[in-house]
Amino acid sequence: MNSDMSYADILIATLCLTAVIVVGVSILMLHVVKLFVKESLNPTPFASPEEKARKLRLEVEAKALIKPKPALINRLMGLRPISEEKDLVMEHEFDGITELNNPTPGWFMVLFYGSIIFAVVYFLNYEVFGFGPNQEQEYVAETEQAALDKEAFLLNPANAKSAVNENNMVLSTDQAVLTAGAALYASRCTPCHGEHGEGIVGPNLTDEYWIHGGDVKDVFKTIKYGVPEKGMIAWEKSLSAQQISDITNYVMSLQGTNPAGAKAAQGDKQK
Ligand code: HEC
Repeated sequence: MNSDMSYADILIATLCLTAVIVVGVSILMLHVVKLFVKESLNPTPFASPEEKARKLRLEVEAKALIKPKPALINRLMGLRPISEEKDLVMEHEFDGITELNNPTPGWFMVLFYGSIIFAVVYFLNYEVFGFGPNQEQEYVAETEQAALDKEAFLLNPANAKSAVNENNMVLSTDQAVLTAGAALYASRCTPCHGEHGEGIVGPNLTDEYWIHGGDVKDVFKTIKYGVPEKGMIAWEKSLSAQQISDITNYVMSLQGTNPAGAKAAQGDKQK
């Protein structure tokens, strides 16, 4: 009983499967027939050899129209390839010489527009919005700073020493100063003023008579600026202010020493 049922079942299943396959194949066949009918009524055209050749030619022409990208250096310099020269020739020519209408080089345009933009930014910055000081304000600020620096320099006692001049010179009889002055005098002044200041070409420095004043400030000034037209050297070029001050003190210490062979008095008596 069980096996009978089983046979019937298998049979039914097989039949069902066959039916499904037949239906599927029939649908497929229907599609094929439909396509066949459609193609035979209105066939899709194939490209003829001429058409193929034409298509190829068009493709080649289109490719030729795409210009190769010029090199960066050529773009910057505004150079056009020689093959384009015929496009650049301008209307007029003379004696067979023609003019090319070359484009302005890229680097020039960058500079040109760059400077315009720079000028606008500069103008807005300094003249309109006033970010940061302009030339004039910078100049004023620097001058003010220089004045402050100078004041500080002169106020510093260490610097004041080297800043001795004909206005602030004070007489000193300090032995160290006189020794330093004597050494400088011996090496620089003796040829003209004598070993003891008695005077040779230059005047006697030991008497009370002076051509250019016998005050310590006058003497400092004479030594510093010299009397070039009379042969007295301007010592400021080769001696420091301090050295001139030392020599001045030494020269002042020679007053009244009355050395042997003293030159006759020149100038006016110092009161
Ligand atoms: C090349 C020669 C020469 C040398 C070097 C020279 N003098 Fe004189 N000096 C003269 C002459 C010349 C005069 C006179 C200028 C005049 O007639 O106006 C003079 C004038 C002076 C006076 C002014 C005198 C016065 O009567 O007013 C002084 C001060 C003086 N010399 C100091 C010195 C000292 C200090 C040195 C060395 C650092 C020196 N001289 C080196 C030639 C020299």
